[in-house]
Amino acid sequence: MIYQVYIRSFADSTGDGTGDINGIRSRLAYLRDLGVDGLWVNPWYRSPLHDGGYDVADYRDIHPSFGTLDDAKGLICEAHEHGLRVIVDLVPNHTSDEHAWFVDARNAPPDDPARNRYHILTGKGPSGAAPPNNWSSVFGGSAWERLSDGQWYLHLFDHTQPDLNWSNREVQDEFQDILRFWLDLGADGFRVDVAHGLGKDMSYPDERDKSAEILVSTGIHDHPFWDRDETHTYIRQWRAVLDSYPHDPMMVAEAWVEPDRTPLYVRPDEYHQSFAFDFLGSPWQLDELRKRTARALASAGSVGALPSWTLSNHDVVRHTTRYGLPPGVDPRTWLLDGPHDALDPDLGLRRARAAVLLMLALPGSVYLYQGEELGLPEVWDLSTDVLDDPVWVNSGHAVKGRDGCRVPLPWSRSGPSLGFGDGPPWLPQPASFAGRSVEVQAGNPDSTLELYRSALALRRRLVPTTDEIGWMDIPGILGFRRSDGFSCWVNLSDDAIRLPAGSDVLLRSDPGSGRPALLSPDTAVWFS
Ligand code: GLC
Repeated sequence: MIYQVYIRSFADSTGDGTGDINGIRSRLAYLRDLGVDGLWVNPWYRSPLHDGGYDVADYRDIHPSFGTLDDAKGLICEAHEHGLRVIVDLVPNHTSDEHAWFVDARNAPPDDPARNRYHILTGKGPSGAAPPNNWSSVFGGSAWERLSDGQWYLHLFDHTQPDLNWSNREVQDEFQDILRFWLDLGADGFRVDVAHGLGKDMSYPDERDKSAEILVSTGIHDHPFWDRDETHTYIRQWRAVLDSYPHDPMMVAEAWVEPDRTPLYVRPDEYHQSFAFDFLGSPWQLDELRKRTARALASAGSVGALPSWTLSNHDVVRHTTRYGLPPGVDPRTWLLDGPHDALDPDLGLRRARAAVLLMLALPGSVYLYQGEELGLPEVWDLSTDVLDDPVWVNSGHAVKGRDGCRVPLPWSRSGPSLGFGDGPPWLPQPASFAGRSVEVQAGNPDSTLELYRSALALRRRLVPTTDEIGWMDIPGILGFRRSDGFSCWVNLSDDAIRLPAGSDVLLRSDPGSGRPALLSPDTAVWFS
């Protein structure tokens, strides 16, 4: 059970409005008491922060607003004292354009080896004025940017994030060395960014189907830059590095691929885990949820692995909000386009509370995104002048982007940033965050925070992590049972459903339910 810390928005120890490493250190007891096993910290490296730190200028140094390398060492050490492991975010697909390698590449003549660390090509047409091919950036627009001498470099994300050429041995060696740098500092593992993007078709053919966005898997198996087979060569190199350390470090892939391709990433000599994004993307609907859950289990199981479940992260609309939208509405475009009165926040929260019981009852690992334990919704109404995500600008103001799930956490009911820090936060918190703060929820048995604490403690005690589950066919119910008698039911129908006579209820997602034998719509229960 890993808790994702979006460092900019977790806790600010200096009052500059941005979260930092010492802020995380000050809240380690909170994470221990929540009941997780460790934390994954989003990128904290030196960076111009054009993409929230996923544009790394130096993989071996910390951004001054986040702290120092000594702070990072201190965090790792203190986390270990609290019984928590620390997972660092590795960003191997691209660097920042301020990385020393790209500065060299930019200044080098064409054909210089410094250019070969990236994908730098001559353009099309007599004067090379057209980009080398039709590839698009995930953030909008062409994936090619022109250098002053007329050549073009590839950037699948922002133009400040040039893609590395992973067929280059120097690039491969450098990343093995970066892994060793953090492992030597005591890091327990890595979450690997854009894990499915490293290999590129070096004949640079046009993209035939342009629908293959990073956050959607499309069924295209022969894509020029997503999910290519050569990527697995690099993963095996990393695994060998990890396996040479005695403290059992792990790595988890951010690989947005078809469920039938996920097993390739978690073969015994590759990643330990890969996020089950197909589950994250499921609508709140019985057949889909069951199909996707079963598919993730079968797919990981085919190589002897277990799925890594997650409901939210820093790239998607928070699930409390997603589940409150009518069927068929795309949450990403809804942020800007609405209709905003279509959102039912109470329904969303009810379902989110049920969803976490479903997720925590499943075999495998679990990743929680900071703030979901408070039931935080997406802040969809951030005014456009505070938006920071490059998606907003690069899409020509057509897509609002991911800031709404990155608003700083409310720790207390009052104060300049509700306990996040001593100054105004980098993104404004809505007034409603006060009532969802840790201070308000802690100790209130009906709160979402206490539901999470109870569920995490019970999972630790009751839910075996490798047992097979047996599906139960009950109309309207997503239900399964384990061999030890532990059962989880989620009511996805419109009617209350009676629990089996004599069930011993362990935990339920509806607070203070007055009708203990009945399971209301959009609620979940654990019983034996
Ligand atoms: C991943 C990150 C996302 C980032 C992108 C480019 O998808 O999770 O936040 O923008 O990669 O690095």
